[in-house]
Amino acid sequence: MVKVKLTTKVDSDILVVGLTKVNNKLQIESNGAQLESVSLLATLTAIGATAKADEVIKLPGKNTKLVIFTGLGDGSSNLNAETLRRAAGAAARELHGNKMATFALPHKSVVELSAIAEGAALGAYTFTEFLGNTKAEQKAPLGSVSVYSKFTETAQAKAAAKRAEIIAEQTFLVRDLINTPPSHLTPDSFSQRFKKLATSLGVKVEILNESQLIKGGYGGIIGVGQGSANPPRLLRLSYSGKGAKKRYAFIGKGITFDTGGLALKPAQGMEAMKSDMSGAAAVCAAVLAIAELKLPIHIDAWAALAENMVSDKATRPSDIITIYGGKTVEVLNPDAEGRLVLADAMVRAAEVGKKAGGLDGMVDVATLTGAQVVALGTRTSAVMTNNESFREQFLTLAEITGEAFWPMPLPEELRASLDSPVADMANIGDRMGGMLVAGLFLKDFVDSELPWLHLDIAGPAYNEAKAHGYTPVGGTGVALRTLVALAESSAAK
Ligand code: BES
Ligand code: MN
Ligand code: ZN
Repeated sequence: MVKVKLTTKVDSDILVVGLTKVNNKLQIESNGAQLESVSLLATLTAIGATAKADEVIKLPGKNTKLVIFTGLGDGSSNLNAETLRRAAGAAARELHGNKMATFALPHKSVVELSAIAEGAALGAYTFTEFLGNTKAEQKAPLGSVSVYSKFTETAQAKAAAKRAEIIAEQTFLVRDLINTPPSHLTPDSFSQRFKKLATSLGVKVEILNESQLIKGGYGGIIGVGQGSANPPRLLRLSYSGKGAKKRYAFIGKGITFDTGGLALKPAQGMEAMKSDMSGAAAVCAAVLAIAELKLPIHIDAWAALAENMVSDKATRPSDIITIYGGKTVEVLNPDAEGRLVLADAMVRAAEVGKKAGGLDGMVDVATLTGAQVVALGTRTSAVMTNNESFREQFLTLAEITGEAFWPMPLPEELRASLDSPVADMANIGDRMGGMLVAGLFLKDFVDSELPWLHLDIAGPAYNEAKAHGYTPVGGTGVALRTLVALAESSAAK
């Protein structure tokens, strides 16, 4: 876990500063931290520094052992919080193997200070669990980041440092779970890991095992999980903050591995399907973060956990299952499994929410469709809804957290493609607009009065390209920050 401190002195032997280009001339932005800037600038110019995002240059310093220059882009006027978050993260990623660094990046507000703290902390991540000793040691990430600031004494700044630690800690948990292979992460072990963590934070835990799921009528989770030797689970984490008025349910797709079932996926690229539990990890870790922040709100996180495997027990194309609550679904394609496990959990979450006095909103998070990646690429997630003002609230928050989300429609005319002649609906419809069809499938399981967001994070959850900013290769942890921000903005003040 990475420590975050605030400082008014350069308190380590590694100093991270910003580099910009103004009127085609390099300029160092150190937020007032002293450094031997004239000679360094000459060196930077000589070696052809560009100051572009994700450029990180290390030079030996006079006052500190190392000075790290992280690109802030052209000019200093268009600096925004996300630019700072990414620049801090890019520098932190270059500092694996060091214990501590001081981040002196320009900022004019506590919001920008938070972004620097968050980016630096989020960049200090490595996944070494399965590396041999010597390799793992070389890669140990920064254990401590200190942010050079003049805001150190304010309560908001202190809270921002603490918050950055919590966000990083829980994002690392999401990344770890995604990066953990299915040989070491099953529906049960996922549940047990959260049970331990949640219990120590006073968050209540309920785990339904396969026989309870069969008895309870969870046909979606059972149908998807029945082909696997690792049986499915429905995990629920309930957090109730002091003075809470609002109540939300977060639901995550937790497929610990998606082979496609009898609609077997091609071998090439199948390994990425260890990330198919990203939504479940994000919603569960978000609740842990919300609990650590002691926010006055009620949140239930639900993880619909199953392994989608091939076997003589697996669901066959044409099988009909009954989702929790009674709706029947003809499974035409066992690879469209996420919507089946989510449907069970969403109906159950709404029922539980109603009994507790009514939900103010529901958010599901899922690596749901390849069509999401085709439509928006690997860095922008989709948000679909039955309630535009809820979506606006979410998108406004995402702008601040730096997570890229984009609104997508749920066109009524596509719904008919999900009709089945033998069941209430089929699990696949039109291939064109496949992300929207999946959203429409889920919409059928939500009361139209309940504000609901569907987040399809298929591309952004797992980075198969190069690391960038504070985003490593592998699991990213996307959606957690905006879920936490939603809880903060909705909590009783
Ligand atoms: N887990 C996949 C979606 C996915 C694809 C996530 C690529 C991340 C990267 C999902 O279960 C799936 O297989 N969806 C199918 C649905 C289709 C059969 C209607 C798809 O998108 O091809
Ligand atoms: Mn699938
Ligand atoms: Zn899947």
